[in-house]
Formats: sequence, C-alpha cells, structure tokens
Amino acid sequence: MARTQLMGRTPLMAGNWKMNLNHVEAAGLVQKLAWTLSDYRYDNAKAQAAVIVPFTDIRTVQNLIEGDKLPFTFGAQDVSVHDSGAYTGEVSAAMLAKLNCAYVVVGHSERREYHGETDQVVNAKALKVIAAGMTPIICVGERLEIRKEGTHVPYVLGQVDGVLAGLTPAQVGAAVIAYEPVWAIGTGEVATPEDAQEVCGAIRERVSASFGADAASKVRIQYGGSVKAGNVVDIMAGPDVDGALVGGASLDPEEFARIITFYAR
Ligand code: 13P
Repeated sequence: MARTQLMGRTPLMAGNWKMNLNHVEAAGLVQKLAWTLSDYRYDNAKAQAAVIVPFTDIRTVQNLIEGDKLPFTFGAQDVSVHDSGAYTGEVSAAMLAKLNCAYVVVGHSERREYHGETDQVVNAKALKVIAAGMTPIICVGERLEIRKEGTHVPYVLGQVDGVLAGLTPAQVGAAVIAYEPVWAIGTGEVATPEDAQEVCGAIRERVSASFGADAASKVRIQYGGSVKAGNVVDIMAGPDVDGALVGGASLDPEEFARIITFYAR
C-alpha cells in the first residue's frame, strides 16, 4: 500500500497528454490503456487514474470511458477565466463540466511560460473549475534558476498562497495540487524522491497553516516531472506525495499502466 493511502488519501496518477494525439489516436490509446490495466489486474481503490487530454479528444474519450465503464476518468488541460461570450478560441468551465470532465489542469508551467499566466490567473481558473463542479489540478513549481539559488521552497509556497486565494478550506481539501519543478519536465532530469517529498511536505504544512489541518490532511499533492515506471515507486514513497502528473510516459499505454499500478511493486 502506498504511504499516502495510510494517511487516508487515494493516490491520483494522471496522464497529461499535452498537445499530442488526435481524437482517433486518443481512442486507440484509451482502449490500449484499459486492456493493459486489466492485464495488470488494476485496482482503482489502490490508485485512481485519469487521462488529461486535448479539448478535441474529450468527447471521444468520454464516450469510450463512460460507454465501456473503463476504470479511469478524464479531464482537460486548461480552461477560460470567463464564463461565456466574445473570447474567441476559449473553452469555458461549464462546457467542460457538460462533457463530464472530472479534472481540469490549471497553471501548468507551459501555460505560465508560453501564455504568461500568473498566479492570479491560475487562481481565477481554479475558482471557475470548482464553481462548475469539477476538481482542479493546480500546478506550481520553480524554474532552474530558483532551484540553483536554493529558494525553491519559499518560492513554491508563494505560488501556493497565490493560487489558493479565496478558496474555502473544504475546496482546498477537495483539490489537487501538482508540484512540477520546471527543470524536471520533459528533460529526463527527475527530482530525487527527497526533493519531491521536501516540497510536497512544505506545501501540506502551508495548507495546514492557511486552511487548517483537515484541509491539509485531505488535499492531494502530486509530483510531476519525468515520472517513469522505473522511478515512480521511489517517488511515491514520500508520505506527502499523493500521486503523479505524468507527461511523456503517459503516451505509452504499457508504461503508463505500470506507473498507475506502482502500488503492486
Ligand atoms: P514529463 O513527464 O514529460 O516530464 O512532463 C511532466 C508534465 O509536465 C506533466 O504535466
């Protein structure tokens, strides 16, 4: 059993496909993942799994997962801060909720870097996701310069304060926070299990100080950045690491199934 489960939290292993796979390819991957998980005798009481897919794939993925009662959920990679109206190209939280998305990732470092999203924008998006009845996966994480300076813990805690502003303790307890050090994303440079635990533990302490012990004991804190089948067991050994947000490795159904079933190894 994962350490996190001893604390009453079910791990969440989420695959962020980023801008990969059209809806036809998405159908293939979801089906292969389902078969592979069944080969591995996946038990979703031990770890929950989700695929976080491009907007254009959501309907197809929804039909497959709901139609065939597959043992994982799905979500989106971003959402608008607006409810509706003249915002060409944007997708609202209500639209994603209508498609039954369980999760919406907000504030991924790629959105922060390439689209200038600030903690304030990420906070507004998280609030929209919650108001629409879905669970936000709220991303934080430091860039390499900050890590080299050794100020990563206070830096990430500053992000946590910003992105959680205005949430109630119950909303924080039901949310997911993903700690993704930018220098470990897509680089093969994985944070050590100690690095992951250090920051995830500090995040939980900050949640406890700001929102209370109950919220802190419930909120799930994921690590993300070059998670693979070969390193997931050690990363998940941290008592404050409640799951993984997996990029590249989630595009390979065999690899992702092994990551999801880490608890069996
Ligand atoms: P990689 O697993 O490809 O490093 O990506 C991590 C990530 O950004 C998940 O959101």
